[in-house]
Amino acid sequence: MIGRLNHVAIAVPDLAAAAAQYRDTLGADVGPAQDEPDHGVTVVFITLPNTKIELLTPLGTNSPITAFLEKNPSGGIHHLCYEVTDILAARDHLRGLGARVLGSGEPKIGAHGKPVLFLHPKDFTGTLLELEQA
Ligand code: CO
Repeated sequence: MIGRLNHVAIAVPDLAAAAAQYRDTLGADVGPAQDEPDHGVTVVFITLPNTKIELLTPLGTNSPITAFLEKNPSGGIHHLCYEVTDILAARDHLRGLGARVLGSGEPKIGAHGKPVLFLHPKDFTGTLLELEQA
């Protein structure tokens, strides 16, 4: 059911510093910072030949990644995003198998303007999973 790895997301305490490191030290193609108020994060996408890296930092007071950064103050891998062709069919299939979908269970529009959902990390080998309809 899942397709390509769309991105690996890394939560960081200092977005500008992390973006500069990917651009200047690692020589990567680093995009501009984008605020995602619906998701409580500011993101920078880094385009690699075979996938993307999403740098995330909290936006606003109720960010879902604040607690993660308290536990991982220097940052850390936060989630993996897999592409699916039909996000509602994927959600219903996974729910039918007992997987928990976070939030309301209705897809939100993600950073690429496409619908996304998140799956509970305890149901997937301790890894928060994002599904994006691509
Ligand atoms: Co993501």
